[in-house]
Parts: sequence; C-alpha cells; structure tokens
Amino acid sequence: MHLGEFRIGKKLGNGRFGSVYLAQHKESGYIVALKVLRKREALSQGTERSVSHEIGIGTQLRHFNLVPLYGWFHDRENVYIVMEYAEAGELYNKVGKVTVQEALEVVLQVGRGLYFLHQHGIVHRDIKPENILCYQHGIYKVGDLGGVGGIGVVGTLDYLAPESIAGSTGGLSVSPVSTPVDVWACGVLLYELLEGRPPFERPTREGTLRAISKEGYLRTPKIVEDARVVKILERCLVKRGEERWTIREMVEYLEGAICNIR
Ligand code: ADE
Repeated sequence: MHLGEFRIGKKLGNGRFGSVYLAQHKESGYIVALKVLRKREALSQGTERSVSHEIGIGTQLRHFNLVPLYGWFHDRENVYIVMEYAEAGELYNKVGKVTVQEALEVVLQVGRGLYFLHQHGIVHRDIKPENILCYQHGIYKVGDLGGVGGIGVVGTLDYLAPESIAGSTGGLSVSPVSTPVDVWACGVLLYELLEGRPPFERPTREGTLRAISKEGYLRTPKIVEDARVVKILERCLVKRGEERWTIREMVEYLEGAICNIR
C-alpha cells in the first residue's frame, strides 16, 4: 500500500503526533480513516515502540468494540495507519452533552473492548474521550492502541490512576501499570461524559496529581441523579487498584443495570 492509492478528504481529528483524515481507496472505493504519524516527531519522542505496538495489536486483535486497523505503510516523512472510519466521529465532541443512558452505554461498550484486551494480557492505558469513536446506531469502539504496552507516562493527566503517579509524587519507584488503571479511567470517563469535566481537574498539574491520589470527586446534581452512576463511580474511582472492580465486574454490573431493547 502507498499514499497514491488513496484520495484524501477532510481532517477528522488531531492525534499526538499527527492527524487523521478521511480517505478513499481508489481501486476498491473503500472509505477509511488514514492516521498520519510524522516520523520526526513520533520517533524523536521514543514512540517507535508504541507505534509498532499500535499496528501489531490493532491488526491482530479483533473485537466488536475495538476500532479495526486494516494495515499500514510508510514513506520518508510519515507512517500511515489505515483504520475503519467511524461515521459519528470522536466521543470527545459529546462530552457533557450525553444522557445518563448514553453515558452508561458508552462505558459498557468501552468496558467490553477493554475486557477483551485484558483477557489477552493487554492494558490500554490511554482511555479518554479522544480515543473512543462513535458509530451509527449507538455503537462505540476503543481506538488508539498507541499507548498500549509502551513505556513512560503516556496517559492524559486527568485520566491517570493513583498508582500510576505514585512514583512521580513520592519519588519512589514506579510500579508497573496493570489492568486496574483502565477501570479507573472508565470511572473518569463516565464522570466527564456527564459532567463535562473530569473529576480531578484542577488549575495546576500538581493540583490534579494531588486530587487524583488524595481527594474525592464532587458529587454534582448530574452525578448523583442516577444510582447506577453513583455505584459505578464508587467502585471504579477507588484509590487502591486492588480494591477496584475488575473490568469484568464493571461490565457484568452494567449488563444487568442497563435495560434496553434494541
Ligand atoms: N478520528 C480519529 N480517528 C477516527 C476514525 N477512525 N474515524 C473517524 N474519526 C476519527
């Protein structure tokens, strides 16, 4: 595959080291999303490993709630990742605008994708609204497996779990991240989707880190309105990773708690 085989359309989003464009494979007519990673930026920041991880994991692991990667190629400047086009765009655009029912549905589907990853021994580590894609008929999929298995702090500050920052505040050794960090991130995601801002957002970096490890989250009217939301946050936003729900427990709870006939 090479760039010349595609017609490039509008920009769909901005990633850490490049952008995502709508594209059409000329020969087959297939509509895809083309993620362009600038080699100079991506590789200078030590992300070569995470790029190859994204490609490796994304092309091999198939699940209904994980965005499929079709393939990849590169030229002198960029690495291109060909992935499924999500018609309804990034979940980022819906933050603060969803109903409780929709928010629970998102977290359930993200949870199913994560459960599949966890069963394969993979921790996503970068769950946030920018990395979740929306499709017609209320389908949501986890994308951007770029942070998976990588090294160093890759997560957005607001979504970091307490155990991920223990080393940076205490100056102690950083424990290897494990599956509970994704469960924590699901709690942060549910909160941000409903409230419009993440639970531990503070004016400064230090303030956010302190809030994540030591403080509670604000129970706003929107948050306490639904008992299911209260319960999920109570079990996902537990400071000690070992005491949190597992992703499986979260998914099982949500499957029982959401009633919908579609
Ligand atoms: N934004 C980032 N990735 C995307 C994709 N695959 N489809 C639509 N919008 C996106």
